[in-house]
Amino acid sequence: MIRTVGVVGCGLMGSGIAQVSAEAGYRVVVREVSEGLLRKGLGRIEAFLAKGVEKGKVTPERKAEVLGRLEGTTSLESLAACDIVIEAAVESLDVKREVYRALDSACPPQTIFASNTSSLSITEMAAVTRRGARFVGLHFFNPVPLMKLVEVVRSPLTSPEVVEEVHAFALSLGKAPIRASDRTGFIVNRLLVPYLLDAVRAVEEGVGSVEDIDRGMELGCGHPMGPLTLLDFVGLDTTYYIANIMFDDFHERRFAPPPLLRRMVQAGLHGRKSGRGFYDYSQDPPKAMGGLV
Ligand SMILES: NC(=O)c1ccc[n+]([C@@H]2O[C@H](COP(=O)([O-])OP(=O)(O)OC[C@H]3O[C@@H](n4cnc5c(N)ncnc54)[C@H](O)[C@@H]3O)[C@@H](O)[C@H]2O)c1
Repeated sequence: MIRTVGVVGCGLMGSGIAQVSAEAGYRVVVREVSEGLLRKGLGRIEAFLAKGVEKGKVTPERKAEVLGRLEGTTSLESLAACDIVIEAAVESLDVKREVYRALDSACPPQTIFASNTSSLSITEMAAVTRRGARFVGLHFFNPVPLMKLVEVVRSPLTSPEVVEEVHAFALSLGKAPIRASDRTGFIVNRLLVPYLLDAVRAVEEGVGSVEDIDRGMELGCGHPMGPLTLLDFVGLDTTYYIANIMFDDFHERRFAPPPLLRRMVQAGLHGRKSGRGFYDYSQDPPKAMGGLV
């Protein structure tokens, strides 16, 4: 039975996971690598809830109650009493393996480990622990408090009972879980990444302008945003990184990052977060970048 949730990392995703867990009534212990980052991460949750109070969607009492269930720490050992530990550390296999080795020593054998990785192998991480049967992927989407979907990922080692327990846990957070096996990209990125890469190839090949490719998918397919706007939102560097991992795993052309994407990443055109990607965000409304090909 899950009562206490541990979260490793209070960055973009970890803070969202800690927030939705506390909102669902769980006690939450969230671990950051330093006091400064912990303050920043908890501050993000506080600000999100404060905005809810401002808009009249959250009462001040509810905000205090949710924050009261959250405890911050800088030590992994403080997660020892948690029933599930959800890891949302930086997307690096070395870092995650180091975290799991330490957690495996600190936590009792029944604690479930769940990784929020977008592209790394759940099996490879589970293999450094002695709890392969109690290790899953739990892939949330950004921003966590608003996005309903969660992918529950089983490795060949995961026990079916643990998959069901984590599925039920995701439901208890108010999320809509789907099940996937441990193939790089799971379900959503497996379908989304080749589509985004194809949009870049369409720009490269001069099939249409950046605006027209986006407008085509918005108005022709009813997508809320076109693929190049979405790439800017996700981050070109992040997409490039994930595409490389998927290409290494599948060796299929559809996952190969096109040269234009590589050049844009090399040039620091990472999308919204860097101010420029397929669009220039210093303009209002953002203007399509010229001279890309
Ligand atoms: N950003 C997204 O849209 C998104 C969506 C789904 C899944 N994810 C996955 O979530 C995870 C976290 O991504 P994020 O976007 O929250 O990143 P982030 O950069 O906001 O946070 C990264 C976290 O990792 C911690 N960290 C850094 N070095 C560490 C170390 N050596 N040991 C332990 N912790 C360390 C940081 O302190 C921080 O808490 C990644 O696995 C990512 O693939 C991200």
